[in-house]
Amino acid sequence: MDKKTFYITTPIYYPSAKLHIGHAYCTTIADAIARFKRLAGYDVFFLTGSDEHGQKIQRKAEEEGIQPIEYVDRIVAGFQNLWRRLNISNDDFIRTTEPRHQRVVQEIFKRIYEKGDIYKGEYKGLYCTPCESYWLERQLVDGKCPDCGRPVEEVAEEAYFFKLSKYADRLLQHIQDHPEFIQPVSRRNEMINFIKQGLEDLCISRTSFNWGIPVPMDPKHVIYVWFDALTNYLTPIGFLDDPEKFARFWPADLHLVGKEIVRFHTIIWPIILMALDLPLPKKVYGHGWLIVDGDKMSKSKGNVVDPIALIDEFGPDAIRYFLLREINLGQDGNFSRDALIGRINADLANDLGNLLHRTLNMIGKFQQGVVRAPSGQSPLDAALITDAMATVEKFTAGMENMELSPTIKLIWAFIGRANKYIDETAPWALAKDPDQRQALANVLYNLAESLRIISVLIAPFMPATAPKIWKQLGLPTDFSAVQLQDIETWGGMPVNLPIGTPEQLFPRIEIEAPHEVPTAALKPDKLPAEPVKTAEEKEITIEDFGKIHLRVVKILSAECVPKTEKLLKLTVDLGNEHREIVSGIAQHYDPADLVGKNVVMVINLKPAKIRGILSHGMVLAASQADDLKLVSINMPVGSQVK
Ligand code: MSP
Repeated sequence: MDKKTFYITTPIYYPSAKLHIGHAYCTTIADAIARFKRLAGYDVFFLTGSDEHGQKIQRKAEEEGIQPIEYVDRIVAGFQNLWRRLNISNDDFIRTTEPRHQRVVQEIFKRIYEKGDIYKGEYKGLYCTPCESYWLERQLVDGKCPDCGRPVEEVAEEAYFFKLSKYADRLLQHIQDHPEFIQPVSRRNEMINFIKQGLEDLCISRTSFNWGIPVPMDPKHVIYVWFDALTNYLTPIGFLDDPEKFARFWPADLHLVGKEIVRFHTIIWPIILMALDLPLPKKVYGHGWLIVDGDKMSKSKGNVVDPIALIDEFGPDAIRYFLLREINLGQDGNFSRDALIGRINADLANDLGNLLHRTLNMIGKFQQGVVRAPSGQSPLDAALITDAMATVEKFTAGMENMELSPTIKLIWAFIGRANKYIDETAPWALAKDPDQRQALANVLYNLAESLRIISVLIAPFMPATAPKIWKQLGLPTDFSAVQLQDIETWGGMPVNLPIGTPEQLFPRIEIEAPHEVPTAALKPDKLPAEPVKTAEEKEITIEDFGKIHLRVVKILSAECVPKTEKLLKLTVDLGNEHREIVSGIAQHYDPADLVGKNVVMVINLKPAKIRGILSHGMVLAASQADDLKLVSINMPVGSQVK
C-alpha cells in the first residue's frame, strides 16, 4: 500500500536582511513536525524557501549599488547556511527567482485571467512597502500601516485586479465547515470577522518598479509579490511538470505561518486556489511571535538575536530544544539568554546528560560494559515500563495535535522518572551482593531501554543528539532508519553487545565564577544577583586566605538525602570531632564509594540548615562540565591544608 503523505511548509522568508531567531523559531517548529511525521511512517515533503521579489528588495540592492539578484543571492546563501546549521530537514528550497517558479506564477496568472477573475483597472490607494500590503483608508491606524505602524504611500496606476469579492461567501462557508482549516481558534475568529466586513478586489500588479515576475500578456506590469509568493507552495510538488507527484502532495496538510500573515494564507491564497479549481490546504496554523527579553526585536533597539552566533556557542540542539520547549505554539514567547542557559544546564546537562552518564557508567563498572538480558520484574521495574509505554502513547497523540511544548515536557517527566528509578533501585548496592546479579541486570537493562526510547522521542526536536545516544548505547542499527513502531513495545534493546564510548552530550554552561565549587552552591541563600566578578578582579590578601581553615577529613558514612537528586549527607572525622555535612555530589558518586576517603574540607564555614540537616563545613571538589571529583588526598586525618 502507498505510504500516507504529509506536505508541510514554512513561509518563504524575505531576503531583506539576515534571518533572526524569530525566523529560526518558525522553521524549527516545522522541522520538528516533519521529522515526527517521517518517524511515524509518512512520506513527507517539507518545503521552505525565499520570497525574493518586490520593491523593498529592489531598494535594498539599489542602496548597495548592486543588482537585485546579486543582493538576494548573497542573503539567501545565508538562509541556506542557517538551515544547514540548525539541521533543518527540508526536502526542497524554493526561490521565487528560479525559472521553475516564474513559469508557475505566469501560468496561474494566465489561467485566472482567461477565466475572467483577473481584470485590468486603475489602482488608487495606499501601499505599505515594507509589508508589501495595500490598505484602505479605513483600515489605517493613526494614518499608518495597521501591521507595522510605518507610513503608507499613495499610489495611482493602471493595474490588474483579482476578484476576491466573488469568492468571499464561498470562502466563509469553507471556513465555517472546516473548523480545522484555520488554527488556533483565535485566528479563525479574527479571519471570519475580517471576511464578514466584505472583501475588496485585490490589486495584483504594479508598474512603479520592475523587480518581479512580469504579467505574461502585459510585461510592463510585475505581479504583486504576495500573488507570486503564495503560489510557491505549488511549484516544487510538480504543479506543472509532475501530475503524479502533485496528486500525492496537494492539498498541503499544513501551512505553518506567523500570526501576522494568516490573513494572506486564509483569504488570498484559498481564493487563488478556488479560481484554479484546486482543493484548499487542510490547515493553516498561525504561531505566535518570539520577543527578546520582553521586547519586540528591532534593529533600532539593537536586540536582534543572530541564531548562527547562538548555534556557534551552544550547538543546534540546545537552541532547538529551548525554542520548542519554552514557547507555547499559538502564543508569543520570550527568548532570553539566561533562560536558555538555565534550560541547558537543568534539562540537558543535568536531567538528560546525567541519566545517560550514570547509566553507561554503571553498565561499564558493574557489567563490563555489556547490557545483560532481563528476567523477572520488581514493582519498581514494572512501574518504569508502564510509564515508558504511556509516554510513547502520549507523545504520538501530542505531536499529532501539534502540542510540541507539552510533549517535550512529558518526555522530560519520563527522564526525571528514570533518574529517580536509579536512586530507588540503588544499583551500586545491588552490585555488592552476588545474589542480586539478576536484579542488577534488570535495572541496567531497563535504564538502557528507557534511554533507547528517549533517544527516539527526542529525535524530532534534537536530531543531532538522538543518534549520539543511540551510538553510546551500542545499538548496531542505523538511527536514520528508526521508526516510531520500534519503540511502541518495550524490550527492543539488544543484549550481550558492548555499549559505545560514553561521551558528554551537553557541557554545563558555567555562569558562576570559576572558583565556585558546586558544594558551595548549596548555600541556603541564593547567590547574589549582581554580576560575578572574575577571579583576577577579586584579589584577596594572604590574611583573607588565612581566614579559611582547610583540613584533611575522613568520610565515615554517606547516604542520599531523601527526596533530593543531588544531595548526600556525609559524616566526617576531623581528627578531634565528628561532623555532619550536606554535599551536592550525589550525581557523581555512589555513596558507598565515598566511605573511607580522605578529602579536604573547609572546617570554619558557618553552619547552615539544608533540607533539615545542620551542615557544618564544606568539602572541596573540582568540576568541569558535568564531571566532578572531590579533592581527595593521601594524608592523615587532621592535617592542615594551607
Ligand atoms: N515573505 C513573506 C511570507 C510569504 S509566505 C508565502 C514574509 N516574510 S518574512 O520574512 O517577513 O516573515 C516570514 C515569517 O517569519 C513570518 O511567518 C513571520 O511571522 C515570521 N517571523 C518574523 N519575525 C518573527 C518573530 N519575532 N517571531 C516568530 N516569527 C517571526 O512574511
